Amino acid sequence: MTSRYDEVYAEWQSDPEGFWAAAAEAVHWYKKWDIVLDSSNEPFYRWFVGGETNTCYNCIDRHVENGRGDQPALIYDSPITDSKRVFTYAELQNEIARFAGVLRRHGIEKGDRVIIYMSMVPQAAVAMLACARIGAVHSVVFGGFAANELATRIDDAKPKMIVATSCGVEPGRIVEYKPMVDEAIEIARHKPDTCIILQRKQHATDLIPGRDIDWKEAMDEAEPVDCVPVRATDPLYILYTSGTTGVPKGVVRDNGGHLVALAWSMPNVYGVEPGEVYWAASDLGWTVGHSYIVYAPLIHGCASILFEGKPVGTPDAGVYWRTISEHKCSVLFTAPTAFRAIKRDDPDGKLIGKYDLGSFRTLFLAGERSDADTLEWAENRLGVPVVDHWWQTETGWMIGGNYAGLGLLPVKHGSVSKPAPGYNVRVVDDGAKEVAAGATGAIVIKLPMPPGCLPTLWNNDEGYLSSYLEDFPGYYKTGDAGYQDEDGYLYIMSRTDDIINVAGHRLSTGGMEEVLASHQDVAECAVVGVHDKLKGQIPVGLLVLKAGVNRPHEEIVVEVVQLIRDRIGPVASFKEATVVERLPKTRSGKILRGTMRRIADGEEYKMPATIDDPAILGEIEEALRGIGYTRHGASS
Ligand code: COA
Ligand code: AMP
Repeated sequence: MTSRYDEVYAEWQSDPEGFWAAAAEAVHWYKKWDIVLDSSNEPFYRWFVGGETNTCYNCIDRHVENGRGDQPALIYDSPITDSKRVFTYAELQNEIARFAGVLRRHGIEKGDRVIIYMSMVPQAAVAMLACARIGAVHSVVFGGFAANELATRIDDAKPKMIVATSCGVEPGRIVEYKPMVDEAIEIARHKPDTCIILQRKQHATDLIPGRDIDWKEAMDEAEPVDCVPVRATDPLYILYTSGTTGVPKGVVRDNGGHLVALAWSMPNVYGVEPGEVYWAASDLGWTVGHSYIVYAPLIHGCASILFEGKPVGTPDAGVYWRTISEHKCSVLFTAPTAFRAIKRDDPDGKLIGKYDLGSFRTLFLAGERSDADTLEWAENRLGVPVVDHWWQTETGWMIGGNYAGLGLLPVKHGSVSKPAPGYNVRVVDDGAKEVAAGATGAIVIKLPMPPGCLPTLWNNDEGYLSSYLEDFPGYYKTGDAGYQDEDGYLYIMSRTDDIINVAGHRLSTGGMEEVLASHQDVAECAVVGVHDKLKGQIPVGLLVLKAGVNRPHEEIVVEVVQLIRDRIGPVASFKEATVVERLPKTRSGKILRGTMRRIADGEEYKMPATIDDPAILGEIEEALRGIGYTRHGASS
């Protein structure tokens, strides 16, 4: 089938507001919008101003009212705990309405924030949707973050309540979440009134009388609560993501634009029909988990799989195929790192053959650059189209990709294909001048951004402007660099800032440097993201010690590794550091992280013209070689 992409993109270009107004017909509105796009306060744009809707109603209640009550809505499949449960739309509605009652009973009203710090259990989705039901603003924090990161988010979002699980289950260990909640509340200046704790049977925790409430007991007493209309522009959630410092950015998502963008994406990008089974193998703590485990599949009346496990080891590299086959899943969306793990454990894809994948139509990858090996392996072994698509926490849905519902564009490996309607993507130089096709530059999006993208940062308009809009006036800065070829295909190559991508998780090396620098023996440090076969990138620390420190270096390295684990969390995958005499810098004092990264990766590098002392690079190479990295060689 030839693709209708060009036609649809042109339709959007010729009448952007008409395009989104038509897309908004897929959504239920208590009151239709007065203005599709309000540009009166540029560069702050708002979609569907004057409209009133409810995200939970669109995800759940309207489907029950329209006869989908007995259809599966959420399929919980947890190989790591050996449990499964299917919730129909009617059952999910009942759970959500009752948990909304729990929220109300504990004083949560429209606009109040609720932090959700839970492992991958259905109750996490219930808590998110219950917040949406009453207009409360949720902020889900990924379980792999430590207490300190949770505390930062508590202080920024100022939640009245925290909803947590007693524990999470990781391969070979139980991660106790509740002590981290207690510690985070201890550290934070803001103190939530109530914690609702879901006791998991793998590990029950003690509750603090007067503050902590047992999920089950609260639910037993709860009265169901109905959906309340909220403004299209009211916040649905805040999701914190790594910025260029240790302070995370609170990305705000509104209700109306988000509903419309996700509703458009399901048939057009993913090519799924209501009633089909959709699976985003991600975590609810990430943007993919928000958009494509919870909201989009339910908005579209699909059944969504909520998977608690890993691509390998729970129990083996066939678990994805077992899950697809057992639940007759049409679409899988995951990160390339998951496929690298599968390919490592089952290089010939033998386990694929054990399962009937007759229902499976398309694989979508995102979160990091897809390497050609992994892509080809997936294509060849699975025999379905593999779509690489590019997005960010800030946008909440893809910026560029391919369109299963419009007919796939011819695939070019290494490219994320073409921009979605709504995104006017440009590649520019430092002076915001467009570069020629094929030339690499900063990737920017001409304002306004489409529905679904962040309208601002939580309580931080200034931060929104300075992080995204100031460097290239009139454009949103994606922070990614790459190029667009003559056919308009986009190639996303690297970040322009200090963000690294570890197993599809976005992390700030600047944030890690702040933690390392707080160690009593560290005078100066740098963290670089080096290539890793499985995780794409992993962080490696280079430490310069304070004068007079003569403790064994190995001891200090062990301490800093633990420090990052304690302060940022295991998700950082920070396991390696080395001590060096000094760091390479430019004459103006800028640390040459890019050069060190190239040395570690064994890539050719140019001796930076501005380096203050070229001899340092030899020392860095030797130190990195000491921990298993080598250099290819400098070129002049
Ligand atoms: N709660 C607590 N700890 C967690 C956690 C959670 N929710 N998620 C991860 N961790 C811990 C892990 O146990 C691990 O700890 P360890 O250092 O003690 O082993 C650490 O954080 C790093 O986790 P991860 O990056 O997941 O590495 P891994 O080695 O456990 O697994 C993969 C590697 C590739 C299998 C895994 O990263 C994966 O499945 N990735 C898919 C990525 C994905 O879905 N990304 C979402 C974007 S689409
Ligand atoms: P996150 O906000 O965690 O979703 O991370 C967003 C970042 O991940 C982007 O800015 C890119 O750097 C990277 N990324 C996401 N998807 C892709 C992709 N398909 N190809 C290349 N990089 C990607």
